[in-house]
Amino acid sequence: MTKARQVLVCKDEHAIFTQAAEMFAQLAAEAIALYGRFTVALSGGSTPKSMYQLLAKDYQDRIEWSKVHLFWGDERSVPPTDDQSNYRMANEAMISKLPIPTGQVYRMTAEAVDMEAEALNYEAIVRRVFQLSEGEMPAFDLFLLGMGDDGHTASLFPGTQALTETKRMVVVNWVEKFHTNRMTFTTSAINNSRNVLFMTAGAKKQAPLKEVLAGEYNPQLYPSQLIKPTEGNLIWLVDEGAAGGTVY
Ligand code: 6PG
Repeated sequence: MTKARQVLVCKDEHAIFTQAAEMFAQLAAEAIALYGRFTVALSGGSTPKSMYQLLAKDYQDRIEWSKVHLFWGDERSVPPTDDQSNYRMANEAMISKLPIPTGQVYRMTAEAVDMEAEALNYEAIVRRVFQLSEGEMPAFDLFLLGMGDDGHTASLFPGTQALTETKRMVVVNWVEKFHTNRMTFTTSAINNSRNVLFMTAGAKKQAPLKEVLAGEYNPQLYPSQLIKPTEGNLIWLVDEGAAGGTVY
């Protein structure tokens, strides 16, 4: 049964990423106590970057980093050295500064020429780490997401093929507006997470946020509407600019 979503309004972007870092630490402690490890899917975006930097600065001793496993929710088709790379961002902001075993950092190799083979390979990695049989979806302890101005999340863009994928966990998704392929987790996988956390800041997110949270259901136009964890928690951290006075 789907639980009710929680929409928490924070004063500004700073308040969002400080609260998100606290939640990250708390969920890490809970997951490590229960399962012996903490599995997280990271997102790109500016607010997550500030959160990663804060985790590296103030949470060195507050999280058992040796038990953290990091994945990515999506990746651009660029090498890990490119400044568009979500891996590079997280690595520079946090991973390189923390004692996370290298073997527990699972980068999406979306720069490969044969992206489809790499997407299948990423699924195989996830299946191995989570010990899943064919067809089963991983239950991430935390799946971090952002929402674009056009209502996209991860690399699930409006009108794209990945939106209707129900069997696969990770796919290559053609994004016409950027004329490029992206690698992305599917909604079936994301919705199997134990906790999904959206971070959304700024007035330019106000209109799409209203459509996603309170508008007519039209996920082809607002893919973030597809994110409804089956059993897990859905939390939206939004700032006053994005909420625009609406009570969700
Ligand atoms: C990406 C992200 C993407 C992001 C949104 C929101 O790779 O681009 O994963 O889905 O979360 O575009 O980004 P901002 O929070 O920076 O607006």
